[in-house]
Amino acid sequence: MAAPTQEALYAEIDLELSWSEGDLPQFERTKHVHGLHPYLGKYIPQLVDVFLKRYFVPGDCIYDPFVGSGTTLVEANVFGAETIGCDISAFNCLLSRVKSSRYALGELELSLRGALEEARRRYPIMDPEPSAWLREWFAPRALGELRAFGSVIERLETAQADVARVILSRAARSARLTTHFDLDFPRKPTTHPYYCHKHKRTCRPVDEAAKFLTRYSNDTMRRIREFADLRTECSVTVLHADSRTVELPTRPDGVITSPPYPGLIDYHEQHRYAYELLALVDRRNEEIGAAASGRSRSALGAYVDAMSEVFAHTRSQLAAGAWVLIVVNDSHSLYPEILENAGLALEDRITRHVNRRTGRRAGEFFEDILVCRGR
Ligand SMILES: C[S@@+](CC[C@H](N)C(=O)[O-])C[C@H]1O[C@@H](n2cnc3c(N)ncnc32)[C@H](O)[C@@H]1O
Repeated sequence: MAAPTQEALYAEIDLELSWSEGDLPQFERTKHVHGLHPYLGKYIPQLVDVFLKRYFVPGDCIYDPFVGSGTTLVEANVFGAETIGCDISAFNCLLSRVKSSRYALGELELSLRGALEEARRRYPIMDPEPSAWLREWFAPRALGELRAFGSVIERLETAQADVARVILSRAARSARLTTHFDLDFPRKPTTHPYYCHKHKRTCRPVDEAAKFLTRYSNDTMRRIREFADLRTECSVTVLHADSRTVELPTRPDGVITSPPYPGLIDYHEQHRYAYELLALVDRRNEEIGAAASGRSRSALGAYVDAMSEVFAHTRSQLAAGAWVLIVVNDSHSLYPEILENAGLALEDRITRHVNRRTGRRAGEFFEDILVCRGR
């Protein structure tokens, strides 16, 4: 069968939500705090911005039951909405909180500089013995530098310490014993020089972390300062909880979210280095749709049950008439049943082309925005 023409495909999709790489380059998609730490599976901030303008007004309260890296919170705050986010991953909650908080900027910058300086003096930190996972994935010097920084930042005031924890995590991600071209899904540590497909030459695994700590501290300060100019006084609440059972402090006026999809990503495992270095609470048993659970019939069934529970519970806590916007690439057609079970009526289904290429055949990757309301 001949592929549909670009014209025919574009008649089906929402062009306002289908940016090309040229319209929306990487640096725009990771502007200010959105680029504080790499995160697989986040949606682009510009998408949230369009939803806010189409369906909400400033002063509303927006809830995201799968807040992930906090994209919804940051954009909704700039828009002038109160926000609540919930996530089962402690690291994602940390990242969301750090992105959306307000800081005394001068003091934060001084504290980070001081921590870098003191960590240099304290290196290396030998006690307690690092876990087998850390010893396997980091060169001794890199691990010593990361742990020295980690021990210093524990003494900072809470909000500053949280910023430093995100910097530590980002530095750890870069300092792992991986190849440069496989930072997202490294399978095993790389301890020898290797041919690098990214740089087209022989590269060596990283053996230090201090340079990343310094670089990311500067970058983080720059990004937080940039966001501080855009940030409103609206409240942001981040709840580390299971969205099937979480109790919200107020009744939100709507939901903007992108749920996990079965068998794609392990959200805890993705940031394993942060869990190991920061001793974060691990709730992976409550993570819905984790890749490790697979895509068998029973895994898909369990996913439908869990999502039905999330959206039914969410609906019961919303203000009357609230919009529920769900961004999903529903390749197994699970959402009609989930919405039915949750008591949500589908009012519109908007299709967007992810990374539309101008002037090329549109055949890559599409996702849907399910526009729903309580029945
Ligand atoms: C697709 S990501 C959300 C990404 C987010 N829109 C962003 O831009 O960063 C899905 C999130 O659902 C979270 N999650 C999985 N199971 C959960 C549960 N039972 N309760 C709350 N959050 C859960 C995962 O930890 C992950 O952060």
